[in-house]
Amino acid sequence: MARHHEVQDVMEQMSYGLYIVGSRSGDAADGMMADWVMQVSFEPRLVALAFENDARTLENIRATRAFSINLLSQDEAGMALAAKFAQPYYDAKVGGRTVLAARVHHKLDQIPHTFGPDGSPVLDAAMAWIACEAEQFVAAGDHTLVIARVRDASMVHEGEPLTSRYTGWNYSG
Ligand SMILES: Cc1cc2nc3c(=O)[nH]c(=O)nc-3n(C[C@H](O)[C@H](O)[C@H](O)COP(=O)(O)O)c2cc1C
Repeated sequence: MARHHEVQDVMEQMSYGLYIVGSRSGDAADGMMADWVMQVSFEPRLVALAFENDARTLENIRATRAFSINLLSQDEAGMALAAKFAQPYYDAKVGGRTVLAARVHHKLDQIPHTFGPDGSPVLDAAMAWIACEAEQFVAAGDHTLVIARVRDASMVHEGEPLTSRYTGWNYSG
């Protein structure tokens, strides 16, 4: 058991960026907080993201293959904005599966955004964004790894992007 905790402690030392992944399927546009995001190939430019198997975002991406990765500024405003995306789309995801998914959260409703040419939401406040097209879905335990091609990107303004070190929020262990 002690060993288990040590493994968890070490895993929690790993550093990540902190991103908002934008996706849309019909009327159901969604934004989710994700830090398991990384580049995995130069040519072609590919990124990989790990999604909880029951994330609404993954459902959207399976339907459309399109999604955006929004980078937020490393400051209080960026952190406050990111915090609005911590909640899942489906209420039932909180506290187990005994509750029916009667309620959903339209996290983007109060947050200024536009839709890119591929239909994915991009936050007005993003310091940069990347438009992606999913190419592979790989089962990875309780997550699904999505490998996607980078189709476009824009640096809206220069700055330091938000990271897990800066927020102190943990998603690992
Ligand atoms: C700091 C932090 C990082 C997270 N990173 C991920 C991640 O990389 N992948 C993931 O599937 N969920 C991650 N989550 C959990 C999702 O944000 C959460 O399950 C989300 O609400 C799913 O949203 P959706 O159902 O609207 O897609 C993270 C949560 C926090 C607080």
